[in-house]
Amino acid sequence: MWIDQISCCLLAVLCLHILNRFATQAKALVPTTPQIHELTPDYISDTLEVKWYEGGSAFPYELNAIWEIHILHKKPLKEAARDIIQSRLTGTEKLLHWVWTSDLPFNCTDHYVRIRYCLVDHGICSEWSELAKIPGKDSGMYPIDKVVPMGTDMTFCCVWKRGESMTTINYGGCRSGHCWTETLTEQSMALHAEKVALSPSSGFNAWCLAETTEDSDESIYGTVLFVGYPPDVPKKLDCTAQNSEEIMCQWQEGRRTNLYGTRGTHYFLIEQFSGKNITCIHARRGQQHFQCNFPILTDQTKYHFTLEAYNNLGHSKASVLLEID
Ligand SMILES: *[C@@H]1O[C@H](CO)[C@@H](O)[C@H](O)[C@H]1NC(C)=O
Ligand SMILES: *[C@@H]1O[C@H](CO)[C@@H](O)[C@H](O)[C@H]1NC(C)=O
Repeated sequence: MWIDQISCCLLAVLCLHILNRFATQAKALVPTTPQIHELTPDYISDTLEVKWYEGGSAFPYELNAIWEIHILHKKPLKEAARDIIQSRLTGTEKLLHWVWTSDLPFNCTDHYVRIRYCLVDHGICSEWSELAKIPGKDSGMYPIDKVVPMGTDMTFCCVWKRGESMTTINYGGCRSGHCWTETLTEQSMALHAEKVALSPSSGFNAWCLAETTEDSDESIYGTVLFVGYPPDVPKKLDCTAQNSEEIMCQWQEGRRTNLYGTRGTHYFLIEQFSGKNITCIHARRGQQHFQCNFPILTDQTKYHFTLEAYNNLGHSKASVLLEID
């Protein structure tokens, strides 16, 4: 009798425990609404990083989740991008992240981000998180003074002030290429230029005109686009001792980058054995040859030179060995 009571009691506790577990499981499977933890837009590279906690600790066991990330813009709001990533909710608070590059500069118009997740094995999805905003800029033509490789599909935009209306939008490269416009909001318009051609040395202008409706005051918004190539591999790199103090390295640029001044190619001469790194300022000599001098180091007869070439679009290098006696 006494033993019966105990086992009955134990059974009841066990039942309660199981029932509780079922109850929490059923409750846990109403997915909680996720929240964006951190939104980091870069207004120069037009990349965006979104971070959020996966919220796995809300569930009593591991689950497979598919996250949907949604970018919206324009008025009325339209989808600009959508992506999915998978994760396994393991009960820890893992920070997930997603990186995206926008074709349309963030300055052009407000962008919004939202996320949600679906539990794959249960076929249910959470609500969307609240919209997080990446605010656009007030007025101007964007992107500002960008350097791009030849053949890039470009998107410019004009943002004008409240009270103004846009009358003209254009890009210098449209004369030879294909361009078309797209309305973003009542205060902004995009101009798409397909496969941009090499620009003149001063760049191609992109501009728009807007006038105030009351006194037809005109505003002009403009920007410049530089179109070129990344540096070619330096050709015919050759280093020789000039005297007891200096080694002179010469090379040819290869294909022209079509970029000049601060956007032109920067060269560095690195000697591998000593680790010495020389900035070749004014490396250009004459039409064809570039030149950079390197000091002869005491007690060093073997030199392994690497010439590195950099510009806004990329880098390349060439190497040569030299032994002096
Ligand atoms: C966006 O505007 C800021 C100034 O407000 C500027 O510094 C930045 O270069 C612009 N980004 C692009 C891609 O034009
Ligand atoms: C050489 O120096 C330049 C300028 O200080 C730097 O940008 C570059 O990364 C250096 N290269 C190496 C291989 O150290």
